[in-house]
Amino acid sequence: MSSSIHTSVLPAEVMSFLAVKPGTRVVDGTLGGGGHTRLLAEAVGPDGLVIAIDRDPAAIDRGARELAGLPVRFAQANYCDIPEVLDALSIDKVDGVLLDVGLSSDQLSDHDRGFSFDSEGPLDLRFDPTEGEPAWRMVNRMKPESLADIIFEYGEERFSRRIARRIAAVREKQPIRSAKEFARLVTSAIPRQYPPPRIHPATRTFQALRIAVNQELKSLRIALERIPTRLAPGGRLVVISFHSLEDRLAKQALRNKQVWECLTRSPVEASDEEVQRNPRSRSAKLRAAQLAGAPSDSQLGQ
Ligand SMILES: C[S@@+](CC[C@H](N)C(=O)[O-])C[C@H]1O[C@@H](n2cnc3c(N)ncnc32)[C@H](O)[C@@H]1O
Repeated sequence: MSSSIHTSVLPAEVMSFLAVKPGTRVVDGTLGGGGHTRLLAEAVGPDGLVIAIDRDPAAIDRGARELAGLPVRFAQANYCDIPEVLDALSIDKVDGVLLDVGLSSDQLSDHDRGFSFDSEGPLDLRFDPTEGEPAWRMVNRMKPESLADIIFEYGEERFSRRIARRIAAVREKQPIRSAKEFARLVTSAIPRQYPPPRIHPATRTFQALRIAVNQELKSLRIALERIPTRLAPGGRLVVISFHSLEDRLAKQALRNKQVWECLTRSPVEASDEEVQRNPRSRSAKLRAAQLAGAPSDSQLGQ
């Protein structure tokens, strides 16, 4: 298996908001290419621990190999199951949690998984290829109206109905299978735009199906509810999202003053310099909070 090609977004900001101290324990709920995990592991040092979680078995295998020797324990799981992962390690509370949600560049470049538009492989789109329904089956099975709703809601795609109608027409002749064929089908359903848009015409539809197949919003909603129960007093949470619906969930959860003291009034975004270096960071939004009710530094000093 090749090395990770994923570039972590907002690395300095993640470390600053999590304020990780040596000897503490933190959860990275989205290991991905392992960049954030490595920074966290170096910050907790040999007396601390990072619990690195990912739904994708390939990310876990790669992480275990590339981060060998660092204080990291790996778990292939959904981050909404952080309490179960901690139970299995006999850990009650942790000092910080990071969620950098969505898709990694490693997944995008894996042509067998259908995340990229030119992939000859099946339109799968699952983070965990052993769980749930692949996207190709969903697009062959669902009623056009339901597909249109998903594409509109999760992809914010204004041509959702035309795309769903085209899917229905094409699959009548032959079931849809490859990602490349699906991207072509979506492109043909969308009127040509001038000037041509910056993104591939199928971007929003792929994103919508990926969110639906992986039930990404549900996982995030549950995780945001459960994480506070496993944070130590003063524990910190950082959420990085790439989609307005995800950011809205994080914003709403962190607004609850009984649970959180929000550390970011508005979301933190990547600098121009970072966007130039790592174009993926363009749409990243970071929100951070500290568990409410922790004594302030001045109280601790008394
Ligand atoms: C944007 S990447 C994370 C990149 C990582 N922070 C880094 O520095 O390389 C998102 C990762 O989260 C994983 N993921 C997405 N949803 C998940 C979930 N509900 N539970 C666990 N992992 C998830 C994906 O499989 C992917 O590997």
